Amino acid sequence: MIFGRVKSLDAILATAEKKSLTRSLGAVQLTLLGVGAIIGTGIFVLTSEAAQRAGPGMMISFIIAGAVCAVAALCYSELSSMVPVSGSAYTYTYAVMGELLAWMVGWALILEYAVAAGAVSVGWSGYFVGLMQNSLGITIPMELANGPFAGGIVNLPAAIIALLVTALLLVGTKESATVNAVLVAIKVTALTAFVIIALPVMDQENFQPFAPLGSSGIIGAAAIIFFAYVGFDAVSTAAEETKNPQRNVPIGLVGSLLICTIFYLLVAAGAIGSPLGAQPVADAAGNYLEPATPAFADRCNTLIAAGTEPLACSKEALAHVLREIGSPTIGNLLGLAAFLALPSVILIMLFGQTRIFFVMARDGLLPEGLAKIHPRFNTPYVVTIITGIAVCIAAAFFPVGQLAEVSNSGTLFAFLMVAIAVMVLRRRDPSRHRPFRTPAIWLIGPLAAAGCIWLFAYLPLRTQLFFPAWAAAGLVLYFLYGYRKSHVGRGITDVPEGDADIPPQPVPPLPGAPTPGGKDA
Ligand code: ALA
Repeated sequence: MIFGRVKSLDAILATAEKKSLTRSLGAVQLTLLGVGAIIGTGIFVLTSEAAQRAGPGMMISFIIAGAVCAVAALCYSELSSMVPVSGSAYTYTYAVMGELLAWMVGWALILEYAVAAGAVSVGWSGYFVGLMQNSLGITIPMELANGPFAGGIVNLPAAIIALLVTALLLVGTKESATVNAVLVAIKVTALTAFVIIALPVMDQENFQPFAPLGSSGIIGAAAIIFFAYVGFDAVSTAAEETKNPQRNVPIGLVGSLLICTIFYLLVAAGAIGSPLGAQPVADAAGNYLEPATPAFADRCNTLIAAGTEPLACSKEALAHVLREIGSPTIGNLLGLAAFLALPSVILIMLFGQTRIFFVMARDGLLPEGLAKIHPRFNTPYVVTIITGIAVCIAAAFFPVGQLAEVSNSGTLFAFLMVAIAVMVLRRRDPSRHRPFRTPAIWLIGPLAAAGCIWLFAYLPLRTQLFFPAWAAAGLVLYFLYGYRKSHVGRGITDVPEGDADIPPQPVPPLPGAPTPGGKDA
């Protein structure tokens, strides 16, 4: 009976206890960690896609997406504080709902992490191309800076940054707390400068019509802009390193989400109120076009050739707004900030992906060869190279919006499973120690689950169709491989290494090999 294949919570916790990380993080550090992981392509780039879907009503979209993330985050934290080991939603599901669903979650997390890394790479490319053009006067041909769905051939800068970040991961780069603090400061300064410049010159009239595509446009934009909030799980997974987690984890989570939501709303207001406005682009017959499609890209190219670039068409939305307001230098500096800071988001996502693959391979659900450790760099190089190549291909050929929506579908599925798992565990194992308890679980849990289903229902049809196909492919793979090889299925219950968050050391450790450890990104 496959649903009976549950990984023992006690075995998982035994692993976690061996880690015994020092509890050093306070509420402020946690909040910074969250803000660092959250702010990225979503606000810097997808603001233009939100404008195309919702017009000025994207203000509401940001609130909806933030609210769904907030309730999901509260559920996430209960499990991550109880089961503080790597693999996040995959591991929680394995312990609570069994192997089959855990496999499905792990499979969906590939979308959350790897595809998101591709999306952020494409977002970075837009700023890189704009920066080259506007500060150095170097024009990168459109055909080489866009994939086929966006009117080009291949997005070379996106492919290259994906490979460069993969190379960093291969040699064992992890984001340090100091680098994170600097990058957070860069991102927050850039957004603050945007708000200070854009808000005072806001034109109220640009807010009308507020919802040109109605409420479905607003919710549809929320389903995309949800991407802008993903990353907060970095706070949940740091629960075990947190002082007084019951108090500090929710402060860190809700605090970082709140800070980001406020920033996002102010930035959106500044963009809408700028001379560009935020009305969606229509074709010659006046019909609004679906973003991230060739027809939309064609229309944008025609408008740009004619000398007008609406917000919805911009690949470096915020820098473009500042240039239009008459602050080209600050616009370029904001572009520079995105250029510097977005690669760290790619790093976080790629790292997350390799870790999920690693844990799944260690559980026998994927070939063990994937978990091979490089003798010199001490990193899981096989899985890192495979992931890097896949991300590079996705980034080279697909537009940022399509990648973000596919990533969201996987994330929403994983969050849904987590919300259900928290509630199941409250019933099944009510007396187990919970360092953090989701407040009002019977309200927050169902709200989180319903919010995920709601946003999924408003994703573009192509993604709603893609996700079941992806899940079906995953199921086939599971029954062909994982079902037979699973360690739990074969009765292997040992927990081989002392720290589940890092790859096992080669045994015996190579002389001079660096000791893995330190804080995860
Ligand atoms: N929230 C992250 C971003 O917007 C994934 O790039």
